[in-house]
Formats: sequence, structure tokens, C-alpha cells
Amino acid sequence: MLHASLTVDPARPVGPVSRRLFGAFVEHMGRGVYGGIYEPGHPAADEDGFRRDVIDLVRELGVTTVRYPGGNFVSGFRWEDGVGPREDRPVRLDLAWHSTETNEVGLHEFASWLEKVGAELMLAVNLGTRGTPEALDLLEYANVPSGTTLADQRIRNGRPQPFDVRMWCLGNEMDGPWQLGQLSAEDYGKLAARTAKAMRRLDPDLELVACGSSGAAMPTFGEWERAVLTHAYDDVDFISCHAYYEEKDGDLGSFLASATDMDRSIETVVATADHVKAVRRSPKTIDVSFDEWNVWYVSRVPAGLAKRIDDWPLAPPISEEPYTVADGVVVGNLLMSLIRHADRVTSASMAQLVNVIAPIAAEPQGPAWRRSTFFPFATTARLARGVALHVGVDCPGYDTAEHGEVPVVDAAATVDAGAAALFLVNRSQTEEAEVTVDVAALGMSTIEEALTLSDPDPHAANTTDRPDRVRLRPTTRAALIGGRLRVGLPPVSWTAVSLH
Ligand code: AHR
Repeated sequence: MLHASLTVDPARPVGPVSRRLFGAFVEHMGRGVYGGIYEPGHPAADEDGFRRDVIDLVRELGVTTVRYPGGNFVSGFRWEDGVGPREDRPVRLDLAWHSTETNEVGLHEFASWLEKVGAELMLAVNLGTRGTPEALDLLEYANVPSGTTLADQRIRNGRPQPFDVRMWCLGNEMDGPWQLGQLSAEDYGKLAARTAKAMRRLDPDLELVACGSSGAAMPTFGEWERAVLTHAYDDVDFISCHAYYEEKDGDLGSFLASATDMDRSIETVVATADHVKAVRRSPKTIDVSFDEWNVWYVSRVPAGLAKRIDDWPLAPPISEEPYTVADGVVVGNLLMSLIRHADRVTSASMAQLVNVIAPIAAEPQGPAWRRSTFFPFATTARLARGVALHVGVDCPGYDTAEHGEVPVVDAAATVDAGAAALFLVNRSQTEEAEVTVDVAALGMSTIEEALTLSDPDPHAANTTDRPDRVRLRPTTRAALIGGRLRVGLPPVSWTAVSLH
């Protein structure tokens, strides 16, 4: 048995937890849209072809914002293809995922789906094969009430009110050699600044996200952010972070510590943004939009998705990760990393939402169900409210090949009028951890809920045949006596405790 002692002090707030931390991402990729959220002819499809069972799960997940339509896809996308009468929409080749894009679902359809799930739209513009003029056209089409050709076209297309999209991503992963239209940091920084300035002339209150690095392992990580922000600091509000983690070569210990890498990435990007702020003597602070994060077994993506000129499949299955208990524990821990940086990470999108790298599986003509990663996301989105607090963790550490020595227990905490929530991870593969926390200063006297994700087999996963094999279970190992909370954490587990 390991022991961990936690300090949670209401006098040490990190910052308010933005509801936008619980965003997700839907890309035209694999079976994310077609065969995911949209499957006309499915027994659960509504009048618009959207699956009601998927809508119900997305609502249960508690997703607040959804980034759309890519991802790599957006860097070759012509937004006009996805508006207007469906029978007139062109069928195109999607060069990002080597698929056929029918454009059956576009801006109008996706916005109406978001209304059904109750989430905000975060739109990305194509700065790969296109540039400022097309971004302005899309903005005019989406946000101008009426009286211009594009605004009136939107009205004719069935949307009298503007979409009023607030958050816009200025391209996607523009540092990536895989991206259509990859740019140098200098060139992208200038383009982002130009595009942002022009977009703000049209709609001054937009919230604009410049592309940061595609990941902390990119050779230009850090320098990319510095150069981009040197050009675009005054024109944007956010710099993006992206990170995907996977268990490599059976090294579960390193994988379970992935959140330490996310912590470092966030802190590096914040430090870089603040360096630019200092150099510019700017009163303005740039926040982080962590708009792609998840566990993703990138190494399992077949090298060269079919590259034949006569083979462009329609919504082929790509990266439909089975997700294990360990994957769910890591996702829960990544959310804890976002929460403890709530002062600077004010928007985030789990990538993605349905079928592709997703917490929700939707079977063709069949049921939709929850993968292991669904549970920590839904619970954290529900319980992490109010303000994030600093948490001190005193516990043993262990060595990892990837991240050096890491603490065996990790924790995050939030407090909100009369309620508090603690999120805990035990990274030990063999030992239970007993955590004690003095919660007297929080003024909490009752445990409202205590839920754990764990399994004797950390590689257990939900499947079509057993969609409830992995789920959250109430823990009997939590007690609050005399202002001291004690929680027993099984090996490789994620736990949420809410207090009142
Ligand atoms: O989410 C899958 C892909 O990962 C996105 O299209 C891209 O932005 C990232 O590389």
C-alpha cells in the first residue's frame, strides 16, 4: 500500500475553470461525420439524418464546444461546397484522409446538429490551399446578418439568423509536413496576422486562435510559437496546443505519466507567449487553446492510407480506437492537467468525438456505446466547476523511460459555491494508494459521489459484444471524517470525488 498526502487550499486558486475546457472535435475524417453523427436510414436517425442515440451520448458526455471541420481536412476544404441545395453540392477528393467527400454535411447541417447537442461551434478556416479572402467570405456568410451577397445566400439556404460563430481557428497544424500548404513559422505568422486583422475588421469581437506546434515533439516546438506570436500577438487571442499519447512497446509506466508531458507542453507554450508579451511590452495576455488532445495509437495508422488514384473510399474506418481502462485513466489524467492550468488554458477540444479517436462508438445500423475514455470526460465535465485550486501532492515517485521520475499519484481540485471536486489518479501498476486530504478549509462535510475507473486488467476494453465491460463504479473506499478525506485508489485507476 502506497500513501499520498494532499494539500488543497482554497486560498490558492489557479483560476476559473472555463466551460470551454470540455470541448471536442469533429473532423470530416473516417466515420466521424458520415456513419458517426450522421446516418440517414439508421433506425435512430431523426428527420435530418442525425442519429438520436449518438446525440443522447454526446449530451451525456457534456461537450460544450465542438471544433469543426478539421483538422487536416480543413487545409484542403472549400466551405462553399458544403452549403446550398444538397443535390448541387460537388463530390470531392479529400487529400488529407484519401477519402471521397460528398459534402452532404456542411456548415448548416453541422450547426443544426450542434443545436441538438447544445454545444458551441468553433470553426476552422482553410489557410492551407486557401487564404485571407476565402476566410473573409466564410466569416461574412456565417456572421453578417443580411444585405450582402453571401449573407443573403445563407438566408436563401435556410438560415435567416447569422451563425454568430465566436471562436475561429486560423488554419490547422501549419508546421506539419503532412499538411496541405505547410508554412514556415515566419510565413504562417504573417498570414495569421493578416487574416486575423481582416476578420476583425468585419467582426471585431471574434476570438481567434493561431496555430501553435502540432506537438511538443516537433523540431521547431517553442521557436514556432515565438515566431508566430511575434507577428500575430496583437491580432489573436489564443495559441493552440496539440498532443496525442499512446502506450508504446508495452511501456505502461511511461504512458500512465503522459499528463506530465502535457503539463510541460502547456508551461512551455505559456512561457513562450509571455516572453513575446514581455518583448512587446504588451498589456495583453495570450491564452492556450488545447484544441486537439487525446490518447491516439498513431503508430497503428496504416502507413499510406490506400494511395491508389482509383480508390477513394467513402468514410472508411480510420483510428477507431478500442480504448482500454489504462487509456481511460490517462484521459482522466490529461483532463487534470488542463484543470490545473485553468488560468491559461481556457479552451480545449478532445480529439475527436464519434468513432474516430473517440469516446463514442456508433455501429452502422447498430447501437452506439461508450468507450472507456467516455467516463472520465463525462464525469469531469459534470463535476469540475467554479475555480481550480493548487493541489500539493506528497507521495513516492517512480522512474519512467519517457518522462524521468514522476509522482505515483496525481490530483486536481475545483471548488464552487458549496461544492468541491477532487480528481485522482494512481499510476502504480501493482499497489493500491491511500490518499488523505485535509478538506476542512474547504468547508465540506459530506461525500456526494465517489466514482472509480479501474479493472484487474488495465487493458480491458468495451466491445460490441460487451459494451458495458468497462464502466465507472462507486467506490466504497472513500470516507470523510473530521475534515479529513481518505480515498483508496486501486492500481491503474482514475477516481472522482465530489464533496458538499
Ligand atoms: O485528429 C486527427 C488529426 O490529428 C487531425 O486531423 C490533425 O490536425 C492532427 O494531426
